[in-house]
Amino acid sequence: MEIQEAKKKAEELQTLLNQYSYEYYVLDQPSVPDSEYDRLLHELIELEEQFPEVRTPDSPTQRVGGDILDMFVKVEHSLPMLSLGNAFNEEDLRDFDRKVRQAVGESFMYVCELKIDGLAVTLQYENGYFKRGATRGDGTIGEDITENLKTIKSIPLKIKEPITIEVRGEAFMPKKSFEALNAGKLKRGEEPFANPRNAAAGSLRQLDPKLAAKRNLDIFLYSIADFGETGVRSHSEGLDMLDRIGFKTNKERRRCATIDDVLAYIEEWTEKRQDLAYDIDGIVIKVDSLDQQEELGFTAKSPRWAIAYKFPAEEVVTTLKDIELSIGRTGVLTPTALLEPVRVAGTTVQRASLHNEDLIREKDIRIGDQVVVKKAGDIIPEVVNVLPERRTGEEKEFVMPTECPECGSELVRLDGEVALRCINPKCPAQIREGLIHFVSRTAMNIDGLGEKVISQLFQEKLIQDVADIYKLTYDQLIKLERMGDKSVNNLLAAIEASKENSLERLLFGLGIRHVGSKAAKTLAQEFGTMDALRKASREELTAINEIGEKMADSIATYFELEEAAALLEELKTAGVNMDYKGAKPVRAEDIDSFFAGKTVVLTGKLQQLTRNEAKEQLESLGANVSGSVSKKTDLVIAGEDAGSKLDKAESLGVPVWNEEKLIEELNK
Ligand code: IVH
Repeated sequence: MEIQEAKKKAEELQTLLNQYSYEYYVLDQPSVPDSEYDRLLHELIELEEQFPEVRTPDSPTQRVGGDILDMFVKVEHSLPMLSLGNAFNEEDLRDFDRKVRQAVGESFMYVCELKIDGLAVTLQYENGYFKRGATRGDGTIGEDITENLKTIKSIPLKIKEPITIEVRGEAFMPKKSFEALNAGKLKRGEEPFANPRNAAAGSLRQLDPKLAAKRNLDIFLYSIADFGETGVRSHSEGLDMLDRIGFKTNKERRRCATIDDVLAYIEEWTEKRQDLAYDIDGIVIKVDSLDQQEELGFTAKSPRWAIAYKFPAEEVVTTLKDIELSIGRTGVLTPTALLEPVRVAGTTVQRASLHNEDLIREKDIRIGDQVVVKKAGDIIPEVVNVLPERRTGEEKEFVMPTECPECGSELVRLDGEVALRCINPKCPAQIREGLIHFVSRTAMNIDGLGEKVISQLFQEKLIQDVADIYKLTYDQLIKLERMGDKSVNNLLAAIEASKENSLERLLFGLGIRHVGSKAAKTLAQEFGTMDALRKASREELTAINEIGEKMADSIATYFELEEAAALLEELKTAGVNMDYKGAKPVRAEDIDSFFAGKTVVLTGKLQQLTRNEAKEQLESLGANVSGSVSKKTDLVIAGEDAGSKLDKAESLGVPVWNEEKLIEELNK
């Protein structure tokens, strides 16, 4: 075959395949059987192999996933990717509607859409060709995931008009693909994904596009980033345009004239959502006209012309088969409900923490009870209540043990605590949990040393304390279950790398009581080295703003222990870094600001700033932003619906400001 002929043939095949793929993946109306598509695709693959010069960027062969990347490149969004304000009930929605009417009058339309539960992405097209796609990231800077996005068949590599446009939407994993993926993972003994959203996010963050290609992701586009020259006057016209030029949009959208129509749409989809092939977590309501959107404008992080209604967490009924007890790192005994496996919000749930004995009494939970279960924040399983009317008389009341289920020592209830504790410092459960904490992500962050590996190592007596981690050898690790040459080498490298961590990680990892990751950072910043901290007196410790008596006491007591001194010596010998490596803190006295050195508490909903923005700005001006109101608090900033913290501030006579006053002072 001559090159000219090959080129013509390739073009024909590409056009046909792109057409078939569009019909199949975007329109959901295939016109040829799969076998025909596959036959043509193979013909094209062979042709392109023979004549590589006929391969074009929009060829369907470019979707199989290219080379493995080292990392994702960060990209700044041309226009920020904002998020939406939330509504949880009718009142919130009527409130939103009132504000819209106040701003634009009575004549306007809403568009209601399904809120797809995936992850937001942005796609850039130049002269009709797909050039780049990125994740939302923090809204300003995302990650370039072009290669992975190309594997999503409903994303056109070339659109029907040769225009330059940026479009945004939600990439997701259909329920069916999710189930198949997790079934495979379970079969291979791997950890399944918790829900389709995590699976989609995990797939798009694969550095190997060939893996992403296997994940059967899909997308719905829901907006045009910049309407510029499109001539489009409303959001719904924008969606119609997206349809016209070859994108996949969600067809369940509806224009609604009143908030009552919106409520009816919500009610309808609350019922019908189970039948969808993908997960949705709510309904998005947008003012349709672009002029009116402009009139309404934005708050610091979201548009005033749209809101996301979130469905209440799904609740299901199941049987509580038993209550399991486990001892945590600090010796606290935690009861966990073992449930008859049940599907809730997309995953199977079989365990739910019951926190402590009081909760079991309060809810009168008995073994064998029928219980209502939900996932708090759609993630953490929780027993909501029991159904006493369903009792048969066979249910058993649960009795807390008086002895530690792991080491047999007597459990105690420390002053004022609800929790029962095992106070035997040699309790194996506590030691094992302490090891797990040491290697965890927020502490020493040793990848590949998960709970299962630690438990095995501990059981085999290969590690008894955290210093032993640094003595592990290849020969010891290779003998463990499910450890191959590659994972052992990776693990050894991760252990080695952890020696370079800045001091705060080690400090947090040691698990000194009351020292959380935030306090560990403060201590590391203040003292700079482990030795300096070790020598600090209780007075020097409490002189630091965030360190109270209880924590100072606990730190001092820890360093007085002979075992602690020996452990630190061992870690030092192993080469573990004991110095702070981050930036020096700015001292409050060096800052010329009203907030310098003041302890500020934020409470209630802020309108113009997010909590985090307010916190960051205050901290940059030398304030110490704390979570609870006490005598040490200098100032409370109260937003809307401020609750008990505001009451407490008033009772302690702490000055209270509103958001306007805060912004005024921040701007000075
Ligand atoms: S509109 C200015 N429409 O929900 C914000 N978002 O906070 C434009 N989402 O992260 C978003 N389905 O990824 C919009 N039909 C839909 C959506 C949708 C899902 C996600 C979006 C965003 C979050 C809203």
